[in-house]
Amino acid sequence: MIYAEILAGGSGTRMGNTDRPKQFLMLGNKPILVHTIEAFLLNPRIDRILVVVPNVWLDYSKDIMNKYNVYTDRVHLVVGGSTRNETIMNGCRYIESQWGITDEDIIVTHDSVRPFITQRIINDNIDACLKYGAVDTVIPAVDTIVESTNNETITNIPVRKYYYQGQTPQSFGIAQLTSLYNALTEEEKDILTDACKIFTMKGHPVHLVMGEGYNIKITAMYDLKLANAILEGHLHD
Ligand code: CTP
Repeated sequence: MIYAEILAGGSGTRMGNTDRPKQFLMLGNKPILVHTIEAFLLNPRIDRILVVVPNVWLDYSKDIMNKYNVYTDRVHLVVGGSTRNETIMNGCRYIESQWGITDEDIIVTHDSVRPFITQRIINDNIDACLKYGAVDTVIPAVDTIVESTNNETITNIPVRKYYYQGQTPQSFGIAQLTSLYNALTEEEKDILTDACKIFTMKGHPVHLVMGEGYNIKITAMYDLKLANAILEGHLHD
């Protein structure tokens, strides 16, 4: 089975004062989350789509998903966790409880607030994940990367061609992700905030899939303005 998991369990604190978490804010004529769900619904290779939201926004999510006709029989609403990784794992626990997990099952996890995900990126994630078991979506770093471990002076300027910016999706074999996560100590869980890092830290290779410059994450209000410009200018077509 090929699952997609849309991570919408955050509260969007960096967005500032909004009346609802950023994934529910409007982008063009529909909420950001709806754009993202639609992209996954468009892909016929995805068997089931999990939309993972904060508990207090569960009924609201159901309402908007019905309103915008994306709560189809392929879509399942799940309650998120206190961290992004816990949200990912709540999705995996849901899969295990509903349908069980086999070694063939993969999950394409994606930030709900990256609405410009393309079919090419989804398909590349599925292909690479079926082949390699763990995938990250990245774009080459364009700016010079400057490291400062004391946050005051430069400690290193690494060679740019070896550096990338991480996007999503991140895709994994569900059985392996679950067993690696369950083996982590609480301290490791605090440090390993990126799901791919769980694999790399335990010595498992994570393959790269190329993202797109416009596959932006809406983090702060500026990004929402940028997202509107991308949408209106059809820069993601
Ligand atoms: N996310 C999640 N569960 C969490 C935290 C984050 O599903 N417990 C999701 C967010 O909903 C978002 C994605 O992970 O789609 C990327 O995270 P980020 O941009 O950091 O979102 P927030 O945690 O909501 O934002 P902030 O850090 O500003 O509070």
